[in-house]
Amino acid sequence: MLRPVTTPHPDSELDIVVLGGGGHVGLPLSLVLADSGARVGILDLDEAKLERLAAGEMPFMENGADELLARVLPTGRLEFGADPAMVARADVVIVVIGTPVDEFLGPSMTVFERSADDIAPFLRPDTLIVLRSTVYPGTTAYVKDRFRERGCVVQVAFCPERIAEGHAIEELRSLPQIVGADEEAAGDRAAALFRRLTATIVRTTTREAELAKLFTNTWRYMKFAVANQFLMIAEQAGVDYTNVLRAVREDYPRAADLPGPGFAAGPCLFKDTMQLSAFTSDHFPMGQAAMQVNEGMPAFIVQRLRGHYGDLTGRRIGILGMAFKAESDDPRASLSYKLRKLLIWAGAEVLATDPYVRDDRLVPLDDALARSEILILGAPHNVYRSLEVAGRDVVDIWGAMGGGIRL
Ligand SMILES: NC(=O)c1ccc[n+]([C@@H]2O[C@H](COP(=O)([O-])OP(=O)(O)OC[C@H]3O[C@@H](n4cnc5c(N)ncnc54)[C@H](O)[C@@H]3O)[C@@H](O)[C@H]2O)c1
Repeated sequence: MLRPVTTPHPDSELDIVVLGGGGHVGLPLSLVLADSGARVGILDLDEAKLERLAAGEMPFMENGADELLARVLPTGRLEFGADPAMVARADVVIVVIGTPVDEFLGPSMTVFERSADDIAPFLRPDTLIVLRSTVYPGTTAYVKDRFRERGCVVQVAFCPERIAEGHAIEELRSLPQIVGADEEAAGDRAAALFRRLTATIVRTTTREAELAKLFTNTWRYMKFAVANQFLMIAEQAGVDYTNVLRAVREDYPRAADLPGPGFAAGPCLFKDTMQLSAFTSDHFPMGQAAMQVNEGMPAFIVQRLRGHYGDLTGRRIGILGMAFKAESDDPRASLSYKLRKLLIWAGAEVLATDPYVRDDRLVPLDDALARSEILILGAPHNVYRSLEVAGRDVVDIWGAMGGGIRL
């Protein structure tokens, strides 16, 4: 159950309440909506995060967000709270809570059930509920039924978030917005809401929009898997993949969309591919193969190291970058952590470092450099691109420090 935190203007009207508004998706969206002139209530369980926000401090890295928070806070159009009664002050509630997969790699409905139960007693009649989290197909209709069972007459729409984390402020204003609704009126209201941000609205049913979002993420995940499998094949053939990739792509438009290899990780791509897999009754060979390749990258690296050094016991190995991607402080589902774990199991001494991730187990870059005999690039932060590695062995699957597995 949510607990009250702050309700500075408990009687005033809000235009929008964002449930999960302190998160990586909810917060940039709240800021951009407030910047467009809307009065936005950020409703979130994480009180520590709300307090930092109210003090003008961003809880995570997001390009342009510090400036935007500083601009919007003094307008009084942003409010922070953990009391679900906040929803009684708005006609529109956007839901952006996390949607992890469960222990069976299937969707977990309990997150929506709980939050629907929390807010149902306070909803105004005909509130527009906009689901923005990435969801298992059918969730939007399921949520509407859940509210109906609790005596709430609401309109629902599914309007997926498609930003790349770290670029939300810019992309919220430039990407087309998918609006999935099964009733004209709900679609019209959701379209009007997002026209505050972008001129291009793409209308679909809820089920079409749910699939569109899952297909988008799964497509990206599969493309990374192809890139990673090609790297493995080239390495096993003793060929420099950086050079192969250059040959494939250089001035050749039909191959320009082949991504470079790297850790395909983070809070979305893997779990959304698994959600789609669950939707196919676990018969989704391409998605499942992509998962095997991408999740297998850390083990592939360990196998290559073993092939070269034999036993890794006592080897001092540095991992540069623990975030799930470059220029991010987000370590969620980062494959650098999976690699760290495998190396520790193999008996190595691991010196993991990252300029942005807060984690007591990490060491400063200088320590990692001074003490490691082998360096593995985990996340290609800019600071590592021109790093002086002084003849050490380097594993650079990203191709950011010269490329390849140079042992
Ligand atoms: N991170 C991304 O780049 C990205 C991009 C597109 C879509 N998505 C999707 O957006 C959704 C949210 O992802 P995220 O990365 O922002 O997650 P997040 O964990 O950063 O944010 C979720 C927020 O919801 C809050 N919360 C959880 N349960 C709550 C409840 N019952 N009531 C109030 N607040 C609650 C949490 O405290 C947190 O602040 C997921 O479905 C994700 O797949 C994420």
